[in-house]
Amino acid sequence: MNLKKIAAMAAVEEIKENQVVGLGTGSTTHYFIEELAKRNKEEELNILGIPTSYQSFLLANKGGIAITTLDEHDIDIAIDGADEIDPDLNLIKGGGAAHTLEKIVDYSADKFIVIADESKIVDKLGAFPLPLEIIPNAVKPVTRELNDFGAKVEIRMGIKKDGPVITDNSNFILDAQFPLIENPIQLEKDLNSIPGVVENGLFCQMTDKAIIGTKDGVKFI
Ligand code: A5P
Repeated sequence: MNLKKIAAMAAVEEIKENQVVGLGTGSTTHYFIEELAKRNKEEELNILGIPTSYQSFLLANKGGIAITTLDEHDIDIAIDGADEIDPDLNLIKGGGAAHTLEKIVDYSADKFIVIADESKIVDKLGAFPLPLEIIPNAVKPVTRELNDFGAKVEIRMGIKKDGPVITDNSNFILDAQFPLIENPIQLEKDLNSIPGVVENGLFCQMTDKAIIGTKDGVKFI
C-alpha cells in the first residue's frame, strides 16, 4: 500500500470545477498532479494550475493541466507535501529545495491542504534538518548566525551535479539541524530576519487541513 498515493488520491477529491490550484512539489504531490490531470481530462474540470517548481510545471504540462501565474489569478486551493507535520499543523518543508515558491503559493491560497504519509507526523519539529534558501554570497555570515541559534549547518550539495544545489531561483540551500524546535512560530520569523536568507522551510499557522495516508486508511486532521 502506497501511503503517499492514498493521501494524494483523497486530496484530488477536494478539487472542484474551474478552480485555480496551487501545485506543490515532491513525491507525494507527484501522485496528486498525475491524478488531477487525469480527472481534469475525464471530467472536463477546466482546472488552472500554478506550479511551485520547475518539476511541478513539467508534470502538470505533461498531464495537460493549463498553467497560469500569480500575476493573472488568485489561488482557490493549494495542495502540497511536507517533510514534518506537528500537532498544530506547522510544517517543515524544503526537502526538494522548492520551499520559497511553495510558501508564496500555499500562503496565498484561499485553502491550503498538506498531504503526506503518516511517517511525517511528529510531536515536535526539528528532527528533519531545516532548509533555508540563501543568497550564494551569504553562506558564511548566515551559517555563523545559524550556529548562534544552536544549529549545525550544511550546505546542500548536488547529486549528479558537482558543487552546491542551485534552486529554481538561482540560490543555495543550507540545511540547519536544530535541537528540537520549541517555538517554530517565532523561529520562522527570526530566521527570515537574517540578511541573506531568502526563505526558511518553516510553514507555521497556514495549513487548513492535513490529509494523511495511514496503514488504516486516510486520516483528516
Ligand atoms: C519540496 O521542496 C518539499 O517542500 C516537499 O514538498 C517536501 O519535501 C515533501 O516531499 P515528499 O512528498 O517527496 O516527501
